[in-house]
Amino acid sequence: MRVTITQIKEMKQKGEKIVMLTAYDYSTAKIVDEVGVPLILVGDSLGMVVLGYESTIPVTMEEMLHHTKAVVRGTKRSLIVGDMPFMTYHLSVEQALQNTARFIQEGGCQAIKLEGGVTVAEKVRRIVECGIPVMGHIGLTPQSIHQFGGHKVQGKSPEGAKRLLDDAIALDEAGAFAIVLETVPTPLATLITEKVSVPTIGIGAGIGCDGQVQVINDILGSFADFVPKHAKQYAKLTDIIRKAVTDYHNEVKNGTFPTEKQSFTMDESVLAELKAK
Ligand code: KIV
Repeated sequence: MRVTITQIKEMKQKGEKIVMLTAYDYSTAKIVDEVGVPLILVGDSLGMVVLGYESTIPVTMEEMLHHTKAVVRGTKRSLIVGDMPFMTYHLSVEQALQNTARFIQEGGCQAIKLEGGVTVAEKVRRIVECGIPVMGHIGLTPQSIHQFGGHKVQGKSPEGAKRLLDDAIALDEAGAFAIVLETVPTPLATLITEKVSVPTIGIGAGIGCDGQVQVINDILGSFADFVPKHAKQYAKLTDIIRKAVTDYHNEVKNGTFPTEKQSFTMDESVLAELKAK
């Protein structure tokens, strides 16, 4: 039985911290699920940490669905949230509903996430009315990176802070079951957390949020291009992978791999018969 949005919302009421991580493939999602992480986001960060794009903007519905299906196949208990790519929910309510439905029907996830606050609130309301749980995402929303002019902390000015609070309240009122706060000053994220009824999930938003989300490649140290300030590396997989690949490369070259342990035998008589022909 998978975690439900009701259980996620209850965690806020009980003061229980909510853990969320991204995953993009079957094997990794299986581990995250087995550890007991209740929320897995198939984030459009896929575009950067898996597909090698410079931003999340080029990511398509097809790419997201491909990876969402793999994550769903690898999990039994976690609630899977599919991330709506750039411009797949902006054009109209109809477009947003159609693409949301694809995530649920084809992708097999249980909820979707989209970026924006007041401007997407009506779409959130309509999607929720169709029975699809929506996670909001405000602050430094990566799909608007060109609008922000870079990876800047959001909500520092009086107007910016007020805008973010309004965005969070709009998402709460529209029926979102949780709200991601990305790269927001800790005091503002804490205030927003107090003001909304649903859980806030922070990434670079400090300890006052109801939960935390991280890109799995950042905490595993498997994405070498850059390490965001908000991330803590719990492992350094790039070093481990580099050593393993180097060892393999060297052993193939010097003939010490494979050994008998990795090889297969056959009946001598079959071989003898073949040689005699
Ligand atoms: O795409 C993603 O991984 C995200 C998280 C950073 C919240 O949106």
